Amino acid sequence: MHVLIVLAHPERNSFNGGLVDVAVTQLMEAGHSVEVNDLYSDQFDPVECVQHYSHHDVDADYFYPLNQQRDHYQQGTLPQDVQRELERLERVDLVIFQFPLWWHAQPAILKGWFDRVLVYGGRYSSRMRYDRGYFRGKMAMLSVTAGSPEKAFQPFGRAGNMAQWLWPIHSSLYYVGFDVLAPQVNYGIQGGGIRYQEEAAMLRHLEACKETWVSRLMSIGSEQPIPFTGWNDWDSEGVLRQTSPMRWRLA
Ligand SMILES: Cc1cc2nc3c(=O)[nH]c(=O)nc-3n(C[C@H](O)[C@H](O)[C@H](O)COP(=O)(O)O)c2cc1C
Repeated sequence: MHVLIVLAHPERNSFNGGLVDVAVTQLMEAGHSVEVNDLYSDQFDPVECVQHYSHHDVDADYFYPLNQQRDHYQQGTLPQDVQRELERLERVDLVIFQFPLWWHAQPAILKGWFDRVLVYGGRYSSRMRYDRGYFRGKMAMLSVTAGSPEKAFQPFGRAGNMAQWLWPIHSSLYYVGFDVLAPQVNYGIQGGGIRYQEEAAMLRHLEACKETWVSRLMSIGSEQPIPFTGWNDWDSEGVLRQTSPMRWRLA
């Protein structure tokens, strides 16, 4: 497989950066090719705005991002950084997004990567999405660290519900057609000042997280994706059909 790891962390020597390093080593040992896309070191600009579009009619008094993305995609004039990211995605069998949970979501640089790179008219449209999405046949997964301990993420716990926090990202990846693998979540990764544990216990915890990650990566290519509803499950208004197998799963 060809694996792309998209890293969204401002410090390359962070634990998140370390998870990238062990993933690269393990995946290459297993015979895969790996590319790392470090958004901060590339200074990826996450802000979708008119300045990215060289051919935008500057006299126009309304900037409509969807139209700009579609038109520039069709004319082959997308911003260079977006074009580069799209070329990277063409090569992949699996994309891993590595990031810390910040305010119950991905860091802004990664949110902006979705805003700018998943181009309307090129990578999705009303007819090309979900199980008819552009990237179908390719896999994606999230590798996330969170500061709060795992127990605090239990239902109605202090840290909230991890499945809910990750749902918008999973849903977006599925929207553009990816098979989404279950996330790899490392809890209790306290970064800088906040400490729930003494130092030695913390270091043991970090090492254990790396080992779990490495052993999961050994067979990552054969994992089954998270089940999502698809076009056959919805009626013309997008409502889940009574006959959908997913309805029985949720019941
Ligand atoms: C801006 C910011 C927001 C954060 N929000 C959360 C949060 O919502 N939930 C949580 O459990 N941890 C939160 N944290 C803690 C980080 O998830 C934690 O520091 C990180 O996973 C540690 O990984 P690192 O050592 O690679 O930075 C936040 C940290 C920062 C800097």
